[in-house]
Amino acid sequence: MIELTGVKKIYYMGKIEVPALRGVDLNIKSGEFVAIMGPSGSGKSTMLNMLGLLDSPTSGKIVIDGVDVSSLDENRRADFRLRKLGFVFQFFSLLMELKAVENVELPMIMDDRKFDRAAVLLELVGMGDRIEHYPSELSGGQQQRVAIARALANEPAILLADEPTANLDTESSNQIIDLFRELNDKGQTIIMVTHEPDIGARADRIIRLKDGSIVA
Ligand SMILES: Nc1ncnc2c1ncn2[C@@H]1O[C@H](COP(=O)(O)OP(=O)(O)OP(=O)(O)O)[C@@H](O)[C@H]1O
Ligand SMILES: [Mg+2]
Repeated sequence: MIELTGVKKIYYMGKIEVPALRGVDLNIKSGEFVAIMGPSGSGKSTMLNMLGLLDSPTSGKIVIDGVDVSSLDENRRADFRLRKLGFVFQFFSLLMELKAVENVELPMIMDDRKFDRAAVLLELVGMGDRIEHYPSELSGGQQQRVAIARALANEPAILLADEPTANLDTESSNQIIDLFRELNDKGQTIIMVTHEPDIGARADRIIRLKDGSIVA
């Protein structure tokens, strides 16, 4: 479902080249739950941003769901991102002035039934009794579950998560990972960056990065 071939990413800081990915080859199948691990600065977020079409490679090819996304123009990339991908970030990035249910409705532009669908998604992540709460009225773990519900709004082919448990206590972290496992059991493809061994161990497969290369 996802195929990376010779993917390189070089950031330019003035005249200085910072190689973040040094030629990555990788296949991820539909329905897999993959963890990306590695030391700080090894290129984990860079790789997730490539997979999520938030940034494009300096060279190399990325094919997702049969589409060569590396050759899409900015509009098509944005469209692909909205229709096919869901994101969960380290900092929950909920809009604080919107209720839980309104946050989940956000990606469902022009859908008459968005309230009902948002409520169903919040139920799915165990937040059905908190849909009218504002983020400030929720715990960190609960906010992250709302963020996951929002990521699922457009039934994404792939759920991408960058350090989704980094700011959570052990119990909340476990609840998030249990939820990912449940979603994966229903067929959701998940790619998650984490530096926590316990969390990574719950995935089906661990991809280890070091200095911008896959080492295991
Ligand atoms: N926008 C940028 N401009 C310049 N260099 C960058 C940029 N983003 C990342 N880098 C560099 O690319 C390399 C990989 O960064 P990346 O953020 O992918 O690491 P990471 O594995 O996610 O680290 P962490 O665990 O700390 O989040 C690092 O050397 C980093 O300094
Ligand atoms: Mg990172």
